[in-house]
Amino acid sequence: MPNTEILVIGGAGYVGSHFVLYALKHGCRVCVWDNLSTGHRSALRDVRFLAGDLNDREAFQAHLAGNRYHTIFHFAASCLVGESVVNPAKYYENNVIAAFNMLEAMRATGHDRVVFSSTCSVYGLPEELPIREGHAKNPISPYGKTKLAIEWMLEDYSAAYGIRWAALRYFNAAGCEPDEGLGEDHDPETHLIPNVVRHALDLDPRLVIFGNDYPTPDGTCIRDYIHVTDLAEAHIAAMRKLDEIPQIRLNLGTGTGLSNLQVVEAVSSACGKKLEPVFGPRRPGDPPELVADPGEAFRMLQWQARRSHPDRIVAEVLRWMSDHPGGYAEVH
Ligand SMILES: NC(=O)c1ccc[n+]([C@@H]2O[C@H](COP(=O)([O-])OP(=O)(O)OC[C@H]3O[C@@H](n4cnc5c(N)ncnc54)[C@H](O)[C@@H]3O)[C@@H](O)[C@H]2O)c1
Repeated sequence: MPNTEILVIGGAGYVGSHFVLYALKHGCRVCVWDNLSTGHRSALRDVRFLAGDLNDREAFQAHLAGNRYHTIFHFAASCLVGESVVNPAKYYENNVIAAFNMLEAMRATGHDRVVFSSTCSVYGLPEELPIREGHAKNPISPYGKTKLAIEWMLEDYSAAYGIRWAALRYFNAAGCEPDEGLGEDHDPETHLIPNVVRHALDLDPRLVIFGNDYPTPDGTCIRDYIHVTDLAEAHIAAMRKLDEIPQIRLNLGTGTGLSNLQVVEAVSSACGKKLEPVFGPRRPGDPPELVADPGEAFRMLQWQARRSHPDRIVAEVLRWMSDHPGGYAEVH
């Protein structure tokens, strides 16, 4: 769909900036709306950039009123599970109220399509693995609850006001595009792969694995790592599918899990250095295993992960972090 005009809220963040790159390569005309609270201006090139907050509803609605977007992609959120437990107010405001602001502005200006970044945290503790979309939704963190609340809002807005929407429930986003100057740069960084790589590059003296007494083969948590560019590809496929189906809910994962210690092993062998993690206590609310059943995404979108092999992901993250030990702060 060349020249499709899209708005990417949160497009300066980790997943959003990889999506922007992919969308540009596939002929979309991209505008990014981001308050840069956790994103990086230097992760974006060749786009119209607006430094705006989704919680400034008036400004956001005025922007939508003056523009016509085919689809809005909503990546912006606060997304630290632990922080959401101690500061849920931030999460209800920046996730639920911000999404409400977005939907109200869409409704007022006749925009009727949105692709939303949801999460496997909507499921809570898995009762069955791999996790299918119909699995019970019992989120155990305020973060997961806010994402599920937004899915409910989307359902109701769709029924009453005709908004077409896709909620894409990512498992663990990973990897990057070092050749394009894109990587992962969060502060604090809570994701395992960048933290193991930081330790491997001597950017962090300690490597802590939270819990080694889980009911898994090596005692550490198992997660499903999905490449950010695979995620990007699924977003474009979902945008197209909204022509046919008004409400889409899909898991985005690989269907294969990797334990924390397997991640450490993969980084050790990529950098030829034996890494010795220390084991800390379990983090509250960390399920032992989270693995997607990606079958429905394949059936609906003919999409499957093609870039998510752990060796590839680790090699990319190693390369980006070696080139950018200070993250985007060094990019001008
Ligand atoms: N990274 C993952 O593994 C993962 C997994 C599941 C779901 N998700 C979801 O994917 C989305 C992107 O995650 P990420 O890792 O790229 O996060 P990120 O923090 O890197 O990106 C979020 C972006 O949104 C912007 N933002 C936040 N609040 C805003 C507001 N009120 N107004 C305007 N911009 C705002 C930030 O500045 C940032 O650029 C989030 O919605 C997250 O919940 C991420």
